[in-house]
Amino acid sequence: MNAEADDREAFVRVSGLSHVYAQGTQAQVVLPDLNFTLRRGEIVALLGRSGSGKTTLLNLISGIEAPGQGEIEIAGHALSTLNEQARTRFRRRHIGFIYQFFNLVPSLSAAENIALILELNGAPLKAAMTQARDLLASIGLGAKTGHFPAQLSGGEQQRVAILRALAHAPALILADEPTGNLDAHSGQEMLQLLREQLRARRGTALVVTHSLAVARTADRILTLDEGGIHEQAGDFAW
Ligand SMILES: Nc1ncnc2c1ncn2[C@@H]1O[C@H](COP(=O)(O)OP(=O)(O)O)[C@@H](O)[C@H]1O
Ligand SMILES: [Mg+2]
Repeated sequence: MNAEADDREAFVRVSGLSHVYAQGTQAQVVLPDLNFTLRRGEIVALLGRSGSGKTTLLNLISGIEAPGQGEIEIAGHALSTLNEQARTRFRRRHIGFIYQFFNLVPSLSAAENIALILELNGAPLKAAMTQARDLLASIGLGAKTGHFPAQLSGGEQQRVAILRALAHAPALILADEPTGNLDAHSGQEMLQLLREQLRARRGTALVVTHSLAVARTADRILTLDEGGIHEQAGDFAW
C-alpha cells in the first residue's frame, strides 16, 4: 500500500503518545512517544511483556484514561477535543471490548448478555433479544441462548463475549488478552470468528495477546517495549 493510501485509510492514529503514572512521589513513564496507525479493516496483534503498557494503551485509545502527552484520533476525531461525556458516548457507540475473563454477567443468559449491549445502544428489549438469538444461532450456539455463563465452556463464553462486543456494530474492537484463558486451538478459533464478524463492515481490531500462534493469524503484529512500538517484519523469525 503506498503512503497516500495508507494515510487515507488510517482509522486510529496515535501520535507522540506517552503516559505517566504517579507512584508515591515518583512518576513512572509508560508508553514513551508512541506513533502508529491502525487501518480500517485490519486485525492487528499487540505483543509485549507483562508491564509494558498494553492495557494502558487500550485504556487511552478507548478514552477511559487521558494521556499525559500526545494525541489519539479515531475516524478523524481527536479524543482530546471531546469532553468526558462525549468520550463516553463515542466509546459506547463505536468501540467494542473483549476481555481475558470474558466478563459476561453471570445472572444473565447468553442471549441476555448480548441483548443488554443492544439495549444500551437504544434497541427495544424484544428486538434486542431476537437479534441476540439470531447472532448466537449464526455461529452454531442456537441451542445455548438460554444458558447462563457458568453452563458454557470457556470457548463458548468467549464466543458469546465476541458477539456481545460486536452486536452494536462498533467500528473498533479492543481486545485485552482475549485468548489468555483458552487453549491454542480455541484461541485461533476465536480470532477466526472475530475476523469473520469484522470482515463485512471493515471493522478494525487491536488484539493484545501472549500467544504467537494467535498473533500470526493477525494481519500485522506490533510489539511494545520500553523503546516504543515496533512493527514485526512480514516474515516472522520466531
Ligand atoms: N493505575 C495505575 N497506577 C499506577 N501504575 C499503573 C497503573 N496501571 C498500570 N500501572 C503500571 O504501568 C505499567 C504498565 O501496566 P499495564 O498497562 O497494565 O501493562 P500490561 O498490560 O502490558 O501488562 C506497569 O508498570 C504497571 O505497574
Ligand atoms: Mg494488561
